[in-house]
Amino acid sequence: MSRILITSGPTRQYLDPVRYLTNGSSGRMGAALAAAALELGHKVLVVSGPVQVAYPAGVERIDIISTEDLLSVCRAEFPRCDGLIGAAAPCDYRPRRVESQKIAKTGQPLELLLVETPDVVATIGAEKQPGQWVVGFALETEDPRFRALVKMERKNCDLMVLNGPEAMNAEDNRVEVLARDGLSLAEFHGPKETVARGILRIIQERLVART
Ligand code: C5P
Repeated sequence: MSRILITSGPTRQYLDPVRYLTNGSSGRMGAALAAAALELGHKVLVVSGPVQVAYPAGVERIDIISTEDLLSVCRAEFPRCDGLIGAAAPCDYRPRRVESQKIAKTGQPLELLLVETPDVVATIGAEKQPGQWVVGFALETEDPRFRALVKMERKNCDLMVLNGPEAMNAEDNRVEVLARDGLSLAEFHGPKETVARGILRIIQERLVART
């Protein structure tokens, strides 16, 4: 039995006390992966952004808001985990300045200056210890396999799950699981629950069985 950390859902980056940047991630893929991991007898810690989805009973859950929060919880928890599945869609940018008061309208255009947030999967991938594993997701619209393989290398992932933009906020998904050597291990499509069971089966065979 392994302890698996699953990142799930979107993050929020506030501009002022009431406005934020985010994306349409629902957390459904994270919830489906959590259920599939529990079915295999693993312990599951979900670190989730703000979502409506219900995670299965039996998971441990830590809620976060921003990408920086997600990173600090993952860095604190990962040393006690065997693996991480990065199913979250963290915001890649944050406003450089967060206003302490609500930004008032002036009748003029408002320019926002955004800076990059840390990459959680890449940070954990760089810090993982022998025996620990990291599985990333790649949502690509162009040259998907090549880009996913480059991402797997850059983020030091053991497997990469490639999906398309239709995955966002949908019931179904279509994914391809890629190995480090570029091999396509499997394709799964259908309800996210079915896809998640397929992904966990590969993680079980290739990563859990190895440790
Ligand atoms: O680079 P890209 O966002 O396409 O990579 C997707 C993978 O990286 C996913 O596994 C996602 O959870 C993870 N990610 C992350 N932190 C970010 C951006 C992406 O962990 N700031």
